[in-house]
Amino acid sequence: MTAVYAPLSGADERFPLPPLAAGRPLLGHALEMYRHPLQHMIDLYQRYGPIYRVRVPGREFYVLAGLDANRMLSATGSAYFLSQGLFDDFQKELGASHFLINMDGAAHKRMRGLMRPGYSKRRFLQRLDDVVAVTRGYLAAWPVGKTIGVLDACQRIVTEQITSVFVGHPPGDYFEDIRRFMGMLMRALVIETAPRWTLQLPAYRRAKRRVWELAARVMESYRRLPPDERPPGLLADLLAHYEAGGEFVSDDADLLSAVVGPYLAGLDTVAGTLAFMIFAFLRHGVWEEIRAEVDDLLFVEGGLTTENLKKAKKLHAAVMETLRMYPVAAFTPRLAAQDFVFHGYRVPQGAEVLLANGLTHFLPEYFPNPQRFEIARHLEPRLEYRRTPGAFAPFTLGPHTCLGAGTAEYQLMLTIATIVHHMDLALLRPDYQVRQALTPTPSPGFGFKVRVLGRHHL
Ligand code: HEM
Repeated sequence: MTAVYAPLSGADERFPLPPLAAGRPLLGHALEMYRHPLQHMIDLYQRYGPIYRVRVPGREFYVLAGLDANRMLSATGSAYFLSQGLFDDFQKELGASHFLINMDGAAHKRMRGLMRPGYSKRRFLQRLDDVVAVTRGYLAAWPVGKTIGVLDACQRIVTEQITSVFVGHPPGDYFEDIRRFMGMLMRALVIETAPRWTLQLPAYRRAKRRVWELAARVMESYRRLPPDERPPGLLADLLAHYEAGGEFVSDDADLLSAVVGPYLAGLDTVAGTLAFMIFAFLRHGVWEEIRAEVDDLLFVEGGLTTENLKKAKKLHAAVMETLRMYPVAAFTPRLAAQDFVFHGYRVPQGAEVLLANGLTHFLPEYFPNPQRFEIARHLEPRLEYRRTPGAFAPFTLGPHTCLGAGTAEYQLMLTIATIVHHMDLALLRPDYQVRQALTPTPSPGFGFKVRVLGRHHL
């Protein structure tokens, strides 16, 4: 039996290049890739198999999809896939000499080690009461009898939670600047749906200036504290590393760009997932079921504990099912580190690769009836999210697996629990179907609204 993947020495002609998926004249696959990238990848996977090429104007991608691709990404470190170089312009825009998602190998591992404790779920779990208090503050202002924009609301809640826990400093008046900065940066430099000159626009320059002003204020007020009064956490770790002449945080620009991280981390990821989850709960009628569980476990005297959160099995399963069915990071861009063969096809060194980590979420061999939102699939005895290693990959796999994954899971559980406990919401139409929008990553879009029917216990 031949190996699924193996290194090649040079352009070994015995192995052809992967099939080039037929696309539109000039545009290639651009429209489909921007409009519904994951569905498009699934369609092409069914047609061409686990490896194929797609073109968009000026670029060609090698798409690797399916369980073998996920397992290869998970198992091979940086031997086949590199991140360095993919985010150079993004890093330059942040002014950082080192940028975690743009690094590989031993240096990446060391920097990840520096950041890990600061983003840990342990730290998040120490602050459950504060996280619920932030959520309640927003829910108390949702206007009963009127509609609210779900994504906007989720972005505000999530960003305030993360920054309160990890930085001790919520975004306040700077929220709009943070959102504009991140959105324009992602569109111009990562998903490339906007031209680069948009980063010269006054609106972007102002937002960027304000975000840096916020980071400088945060750092300044932290530094002003007497050393023995400084709370432990991300800022303490960064500052200690910096003051020791650190490898990764070697000047003020590095320090500030690291402080900006938590303000951006949840904006598209946790918030997009939470917005999808509100839609899914309303559309698939699980609101009351989850409410019954969390009312009994978490929202009783003394109930808000890590232990009880872990006992909320349906709540956990609902989060897993949302991450499966609505993956906001369904593919992982990389550069081929060397010539290699995958399923009999050659990938040349330097090729732009897309690993479709979220595609397996829709293969019935791992998730039967994959288009059905079904919480029971992640409960005993099925436990589909962990039955086939590599098939469930909402945080991608391999050396860059999301550093905030543990935090994000608990954050999603606790926030949706608080929302179902306090709020009665309704879709504007019972048969409303969510349309995925790129805002800039997949989400239900800013147009997704729900009606606020009522509020309890607030
Ligand atoms: C549903 C929520 C989230 C999703 C789906 C998600 C997804 C991802 C993905 C796919 C990556 C890998 C990017 C790449 O390799 O190119 C990543 C990296 C990362 N994420 Fe998340 N993320 C989420 C929430 C968070 C949160 C809440 C935090 C922080 C509190 C966070 C911090 C990070 C960091 C620091 C990295 C860089 C890791 C590295 O490069 O080694 N993420 N995330």
